Amino acid sequence: MSQGLDDIIAAETRLSSVDGAHGILVVKGFSLDQIAGQKSFEDVAWLLFGGLFDDLPDARTFAAQLGHARSEVFDLVRYIDDGILALPPMDGVRAIMARIADGEDLATATRLLAAPAGLLPAFLRLRDGQPPLAPDPRRGHAADMLHMLNGQVAGPETVGALDTYLVTVADHGLNASTFAARVVASTWSGLTSSVLAGLAALKGPLHGGAPGPIIAMLDGIATPDNAEAWIEAALARGDRLMGFGHRIYKVRDPRADALKAAVRRMAKGSNLLPGRLKLAEAVEQAALEILHRHKPDRPLDVNVEFYTALLLEALGFPPDAFTAVFATGRTAGWLAHAREQRLTGRLIRPQSSYVGPEPAVAA
Ligand code: ACO
Repeated sequence: MSQGLDDIIAAETRLSSVDGAHGILVVKGFSLDQIAGQKSFEDVAWLLFGGLFDDLPDARTFAAQLGHARSEVFDLVRYIDDGILALPPMDGVRAIMARIADGEDLATATRLLAAPAGLLPAFLRLRDGQPPLAPDPRRGHAADMLHMLNGQVAGPETVGALDTYLVTVADHGLNASTFAARVVASTWSGLTSSVLAGLAALKGPLHGGAPGPIIAMLDGIATPDNAEAWIEAALARGDRLMGFGHRIYKVRDPRADALKAAVRRMAKGSNLLPGRLKLAEAVEQAALEILHRHKPDRPLDVNVEFYTALLLEALGFPPDAFTAVFATGRTAGWLAHAREQRLTGRLIRPQSSYVGPEPAVAA
């Protein structure tokens, strides 16, 4: 029995590889630094979809189809009622995405890929009492999402930061949500069902739900001098420090540096609070020292979520929406893995070890 399935290989994939010992992420033959800030999200999604759909067009046509799909899914905004608006954004987006008919074809996949970008900004605006803004298929995915959120044409640094983020989180081996998506795909349930499973698994704070609470941590710490005392008190309560530790990485998560660089590049003209980056760096340093002292045998380093929090805050997303922005990128990976599982895998059906009572033997 392997609690948490550590070291179990449950799929063969051509999509991405995570080398946890050396901090290297490879997506479809490209290292992270060859795609983050270098390729658009549309291009990376197209790369991931390559070989998985017979009718996948060239990258440019695919990007245009994705733009049209944003407009198509925007039609679902009319189903966002008060009940849905009362949910956290991740749950609200998931509830609306559940209206997308299940299927295995490229059109379904493109619709699902477009959905978080087309729906999340509308959800957030409606929650703030503002009218939702329709997508413009001619814009890039990141630029359009920011326009739908803020109602302004975003500058190139800001668009570049969101694009870098979406690319950075697009795929990452057999993480918990991707595994969930593959399990569902293995029953031939369909792509919508797989993506919904991915959304459900991503939401938890041990996976994609960490960045919102990181803002609460930074706000709670407030000044660099406070970092040590705040962190010691949190650990003394038995809390985990959000944004630190990883099942696979035993060194620094390479995505953290890609995102930190993106935050630096867009600092001017964004919503980045004065002193925020300095505070984050002080918290990171204090956390690494304290975690090392508390758990000398465990290599606990910074993970993707820490600088995700800063980046998404600077882009104007509220903290409770961070995980849904994560999902906007990761949907590309879920869809590709679900297709790969459907095409090359078998029903995933492990076994459990029964430790409950045995039936009473009749006297
Ligand atoms: N803060 C404090 N203690 C920690 C942390 C942390 N961030 N991470 C691990 N530990 C401790 C655990 O309490 C546990 O201690 P114990 O053995 O005394 O019970 C021990 O280290 C377990 O460590 P691992 O086996 O390495 O942890 P695991 O692989 O199960 O968990 C995880 C990895 C879930 C990411 C964990 O490090 C964590 O909870 N981090 C905080 C949440 C977070 O940042 N999540 C985002 C992850 S990135 C992503 O999924 C996109």
